[in-house]
Amino acid sequence: MAKKKKPKSKSALLPDEECRSDWCEVRQSGIHGRGVFATKDIPNEKYIIEYVGEKITKEESDKRGWALFDKAQETGGAAVYIFTLDDDWDLDGDVPENAARLINHSCEPNCEAYIDGHSIWIAAIREIKSGEELYFNYGFDLENYKDHPCRCGTESCVGYIAGEDYWDELQALLEEE
Ligand SMILES: C[S@@+](CC[C@H](N)C(=O)[O-])C[C@H]1O[C@@H](n2cnc3c(N)ncnc32)[C@H](O)[C@@H]1O
Ligand SMILES: [Zn+2]
Repeated sequence: MAKKKKPKSKSALLPDEECRSDWCEVRQSGIHGRGVFATKDIPNEKYIIEYVGEKITKEESDKRGWALFDKAQETGGAAVYIFTLDDDWDLDGDVPENAARLINHSCEPNCEAYIDGHSIWIAAIREIKSGEELYFNYGFDLENYKDHPCRCGTESCVGYIAGEDYWDELQALLEEE
């Protein structure tokens, strides 16, 4: 009997990475590693993909945060996937089924992360064309900002991955140098 052909994946580049949304898929990014790309035109305000993960207490979250910090000290880098849900709970998105964890940062993002009860959704903040990479602003504070250079390449790029609330302070720090 003839061997069945393996079905072609949605993305020829990364066949293993399943994206639990019809609106996007994982591909190689020009900015960093893998990224998530629109597979069709996405209307503004559309909830695109849920950011799933493990719901953890603040105590557990601190423990994991410090372990990541130690890892970063040793290896020079460690990606953080922990989102704040509320005063008591966080969500650790470092699980393979969470393709949304691969969304890169941009200083001119086309998406935002919304907390809806105990769920987190990545939603469009403008119309997005099929094939565009999805981005949200990670909202990092300025602690260790030098460890997070930004390569988003947009006109608004502030050079480092930082939340908009910190941009003025960052500008001042960069001017002092
Ligand atoms: C949550 S991961 C995003 C997925 C990542 N591209 C991958 O393949 O694993 C976050 C990491 O991606 C990189 N990254 C995301 N956005 C970036 C950007 N605009 N410029 C440079 N690096 C970025 C940084 O190393 C960051 O710590
Ligand atoms: Zn940038």
